[in-house]
Amino acid sequence: MRVLFAASEIAPWVKTGGLGDVAAALPRALAAEGCDVKLLLPGWPALLQAFEDRLEVAARLDPPGGALPGATLLRARLEAGPEARAKAASRPASRPASKPASKAASKARRDTGPGTAPAPGPELLLLDAPTLYGQPGNPYLDASGRDHPDNLRRFGLLSRVAALLSAQGSPLAWRPQVLHCNDWQTALAPAFLHFLHAGQGAASLVTIHNLAFHGVFGHEALAVLGLPEQAFRFDGVEFHGQLSCLKAGLQFADRIATVSPSYAREILTPEAGFGLDGLLRHRADSLRGILNGIDTEAWNPANDPAIASPYDVASLERKADNRRDLQRRLGLVQDGAAPLLGVVSRLTGQKGLDLLLELADRLCGRGVQIALLGSGERSLEQGWQAVAARHPGRCSVRIGFDETLAHRIEAGADLFVMPSRFEPCGLNQMYSLRYGTPPVVRRTGGLADTVVDADEAAARGIQGNGFVFDAPQADALARTLERAFAAFRDPVRWRAIQRAGMSADLGWTSAARAYRALLEEAVVQARSRTP
Ligand code: ADP
Ligand code: GLC
Repeated sequence: MRVLFAASEIAPWVKTGGLGDVAAALPRALAAEGCDVKLLLPGWPALLQAFEDRLEVAARLDPPGGALPGATLLRARLEAGPEARAKAASRPASRPASKPASKAASKARRDTGPGTAPAPGPELLLLDAPTLYGQPGNPYLDASGRDHPDNLRRFGLLSRVAALLSAQGSPLAWRPQVLHCNDWQTALAPAFLHFLHAGQGAASLVTIHNLAFHGVFGHEALAVLGLPEQAFRFDGVEFHGQLSCLKAGLQFADRIATVSPSYAREILTPEAGFGLDGLLRHRADSLRGILNGIDTEAWNPANDPAIASPYDVASLERKADNRRDLQRRLGLVQDGAAPLLGVVSRLTGQKGLDLLLELADRLCGRGVQIALLGSGERSLEQGWQAVAARHPGRCSVRIGFDETLAHRIEAGADLFVMPSRFEPCGLNQMYSLRYGTPPVVRRTGGLADTVVDADEAAARGIQGNGFVFDAPQADALARTLERAFAAFRDPVRWRAIQRAGMSADLGWTSAARAYRALLEEAVVQARSRTP
């Protein structure tokens, strides 16, 4: 199946959160499942630079209408993902009839181990429009932390081109059977297909990574995008008198996915639906929750170049070296007894770190250590910096985005804390499971689907992998941390909890299979609506 995967960020080059990780991993995992996948992203400077020596011009695009500019479409090949490499390694190599024909052929065999060469990775298509994508800041915010004033045009163009490449008259010879959009930045594409291509293009799927962000603009956005006035209706792109990009996608996509089964249920309720629960209930038959995986090569404690002492489930005692290394780097007291809590997060209301902040003085006062890495809302950043100032040696707060430190915290902390108010999937709790750092989480979305409370599990005679609480309140978190500390003091029990997390299958293969089935459903659906 031919799939065009459109997204606004991709790890490790351009990443503000989990969407970047998913855009890096899921298309590769789909390719390993036999899909013919291309990825479409804006030509962010970091991407143009990273692929500089490999980029070719794929097409020149005229201004597509409205007030959107023309652009150049560039292409480069991405490396295959871990799933494709694992598959290739498990296939028996066809025996060379004679000696390898060339040095290169024998090297290729060595690099891929005993099996066959992995299927090639997906092709990356970069939309080069320097006036839009060349500005400083991250994909969504300018250098001063405010929304880019031309976000509508930035992501309007991305969505418009995604639709163009998926419809008749595409400038590429290759046309996808399904367009897979992600979050509001690409969710206008199904509306473009509906209104500007008479629904004749590819089938479409929209994945909701976070329903909190809609991409809302005024009525004048219609003209900027080149959408007709008739699109501005309650059963079109209109949302409370404005234009909502995410709503457009949910209205017109053939199928909708979100990133965990629990979140798929939660967003049907007014409490978690951000005003779109009515539409989602209406489309419930087309909606699926598919739990994200993680990149098990990038997040592998046995082979992680960022950490001091690699370890696996059989050498867990080495985790202590990483703990000491983290304490030394962050200026924390080298204390082996009290638990060290790790946090790597955006600092926003969603993530619930104000709940931990309420407890921080009390915890540090009794010797518990906290290593926090994050950035976001000023008040939370300042609140956490103040705790660090009050408890030197016990609380370290790094404001910023630091991939290497994120790995070191996962490896060096004893517990990982995610008290999210809502969490569509969450990746860090899965990284923590893999690093033998039991997560303490609120029972919501993907956290509820991945973390099994050790005490509740014991009562049912099974093995848990972390600690879970319900009420979004500091007291509830405090009680759950006490339960986690009690388990931490019991080394035999602690090891069992760590091992349960470390041995879980957290890769992308089953998610990729579920997506493949859903993409096929979308194709069937599209056929039935085409006259
Ligand atoms: P979200 O996408 O809502 O922020 P996820 O848990 O899905 O949450 O993904 C967050 C991703 O971003 C993870 O890979 C996490 O390690 C990373 N991350 C978040 N904040 C930081 C930071 N300050 N430094 C480094 N990595 C971070
Ligand atoms: C969003 C969600 C997060 C999810 C990520 C990747 O940013 O907040 O829970 O893991 O997308 O799907």
